[in-house]
Amino acid sequence: MTQDNRQIVLAEIPQGKLAPEHFRAAVAERPSPGDGEVLLKVLYVSLDAANRAWMQGATYRSALAAGDVMAGGALAEVAESRFAGLGPGDLVFADTGWQSWAVLPGRRLTKLPRVDPLTHLLSVYGVAGLTAYFGLIECGRPKAGETVVVSAAAGSVGSLVGQIARLLGCRTVGIAGGAAKCALLTDELGFDVAVDYKAGDTRRALRAACPDGIDVYFDNVGGDVFEACLFNMATHGRIACCGAVSQYDGAAPRAGPRGVPGLIVTKRLNLRGFIVSDFDDQRDAALARLKGWVDSGELKVREDVLEGLEVLPAALVGLLAGENVGKRMVRIA
Ligand SMILES: NC(=O)c1ccc[n+]([C@@H]2O[C@H](COP(=O)([O-])OP(=O)(O)OC[C@H]3O[C@@H](n4cnc5c(N)ncnc54)[C@H](OP(=O)(O)O)[C@@H]3O)[C@@H](O)[C@H]2O)c1
Repeated sequence: MTQDNRQIVLAEIPQGKLAPEHFRAAVAERPSPGDGEVLLKVLYVSLDAANRAWMQGATYRSALAAGDVMAGGALAEVAESRFAGLGPGDLVFADTGWQSWAVLPGRRLTKLPRVDPLTHLLSVYGVAGLTAYFGLIECGRPKAGETVVVSAAAGSVGSLVGQIARLLGCRTVGIAGGAAKCALLTDELGFDVAVDYKAGDTRRALRAACPDGIDVYFDNVGGDVFEACLFNMATHGRIACCGAVSQYDGAAPRAGPRGVPGLIVTKRLNLRGFIVSDFDDQRDAALARLKGWVDSGELKVREDVLEGLEVLPAALVGLLAGENVGKRMVRIA
């Protein structure tokens, strides 16, 4: 047996803001696959805002506990297989956790095509791309000419939402933190307007950016930004509730946004929460459409690739603080 499985363990559940000190490095034996299992070599670990939410309690997955290898999705390569459907060299997306090797049941894994660059399997052709696509199209139901607003707009999901909305003929407004991210949205990613939520009165800035109101709001952040959008919604507007990153990293959130449910009633709003896997049956069609846009150059894919297992804790802390532009991931091997 080889003692070469480098791991990052969640040493302590954070009570306030997450810090690198909540993690520790460990080394374990490389695991061996049993019947029906595969040994995976982890290539790229995906960093997701939701990683922090899993420390708060059970969500769509069970809660993390102190002492667990930190959970996380990854692009991995099959190194050894005792499962008929997968062989050495096959690529999969798997919940490997933050470690260099993992053993998982083969039936839980889906073989992925080899694309160039491979990192697109974690960004536009992975959870981020599918979340942007289904959340916008199925929950937001935008029509050409409508105004679509997205928060965390320079992040992995948000940067794709705004571009897809533009491709569907909508006017697009991105909300992001800081002048540099706002410039990127309008100058490189084709957003019509960018609103810096750190610059002051977001509700007022949105009113100026959306004089006819917001038809579709794709909510990645919750909290104050959600409230600012709620007050600017057009009658019969739709809100796709994707996530609430403003609430993940800290103590229990403050009392909820004002205007709920009053504004929802008077403006006849439709709010729909979703998890990307709700739309698994439409996955192939969505991927084909995303690929068409990427291949034609109409959809730009921003990625933020860091190096080395040891940077994972700081990389997650940095993601929550808004360091990233586009899809953040860490190359392990
Ligand atoms: N429903 C689903 O199936 C599903 C699937 C995947 C992801 N998601 C959700 O999608 C959202 C985006 O996740 P991601 O992993 O792609 O991360 P991301 O958008 O790439 O990165 C997170 C971004 O959130 C912004 N942010 C952090 N704190 C904030 C605050 N207090 N207020 C406003 N913005 C804040 C930061 O950008 P700024 O510099 O702009 O602040 C940061 O870059 C999350 O809510 C996540 O839970 C949902």
